[in-house]
Amino acid sequence: MEKNITVILGDGIGPEVTRQSIKVLEAVGHQYGHTFNYTYCLMGADAIDKTGNPLPDETIESCLNSDAVLFGAIGHPKYDNDPTAKVRPEQGLLKLRKSLQLFANIRPITTYPSLQHLSPLKAKQMEGVDFIIFRELTGGIYFGKKELSEDKTRASDDCVYTRPEIERIAHLAFKYAQQRKRKLTLVDKANVLETSRLWRKVVQEIAGQYNDVLVDYMFVDNAAMQIILNPKQFDVILTENMFGDIISDEASVLSGSLGLLPSASIGTGTALFEPIHGSYPQAAGKDIANPLGSILSTAMMLDYLGMPNEAAHVRDGVNWTLQNSFVTKDIDSINFYFTSTIGELIADFVSNKITGEVNKGNIELRKSTII
Ligand code: IPM
Ligand code: MG
Repeated sequence: MEKNITVILGDGIGPEVTRQSIKVLEAVGHQYGHTFNYTYCLMGADAIDKTGNPLPDETIESCLNSDAVLFGAIGHPKYDNDPTAKVRPEQGLLKLRKSLQLFANIRPITTYPSLQHLSPLKAKQMEGVDFIIFRELTGGIYFGKKELSEDKTRASDDCVYTRPEIERIAHLAFKYAQQRKRKLTLVDKANVLETSRLWRKVVQEIAGQYNDVLVDYMFVDNAAMQIILNPKQFDVILTENMFGDIISDEASVLSGSLGLLPSASIGTGTALFEPIHGSYPQAAGKDIANPLGSILSTAMMLDYLGMPNEAAHVRDGVNWTLQNSFVTKDIDSINFYFTSTIGELIADFVSNKITGEVNKGNIELRKSTII
């Protein structure tokens, strides 16, 4: 197959982790006879520095004309600490989500037995944790009318949802649940918010079409607690934009490192794949960031592009590095390997260059001596 991918390296550690994904994709291409054509585009603080615009038109154009978008990370501290900044990197990502109508953000929460010791939860609570968050991504408070009074003493953000916005993501989440453990939990705040009551009503109606799926309703404050107390109870969590943003960061720490988690944003147009971590500016350019979130996002992209065996091969490569303790600094702060080494190892794995015992000595040569 031949596929056109728009690559947005973005800010902070975005470029270095995404480059590892490209190495892995190239290995997939050689091994399975596919061609991936890349178009590199700007977004975020990088785009503001170079063009003054967090999302240049050429980037939108390229994404719309691609089979998929691979994205690194967004954000820069110089904007985070300046609430008066008119142009912000995040505006680029929000506008791209809207332009591509990426209404569903899918974040799988997987746990790895070899990383159990890093989880803030006890091993017993973590056994068998495997759930997926469906976060609505183009509506709600993120995109409602924003106002600041002239005297700057009053501000508001509207939260608006329409029935079709809820229906389309709910159907998607129910269909996923049917392929998994057949349980769906709607997370909302229906005891207080009108938008949440609409979500609950629509989901209750749709549930009738998916009788094989058990539906559960949970207020977001309780859900925040349950994710820590008893994460095993979840299979598919469906929720609105803001709640999804918050609980997916919370859930991400269960696996041991935020750096491990991938995401897919899908909608009516081209889909976008990105690790869930941010731009981690303190680590930028140091070759220490964890590339697995990006590489696992690439595996999700391969699934989406109709290459399930290739995706499974990449995931096997990721598992192989974790099992053999080839890990970055976030996972082992003393015996850690560089971002680029992990990318090469997984690319080698996909190219079937790693057979049997690895010569750790050779890899050690590229190992960091910084402690
Ligand atoms: C995410 C991020 C974004 C969001 C930011 C960077 C705008 O936190 O993808 O979860 O809030 O959606
Ligand atoms: Mg977030």
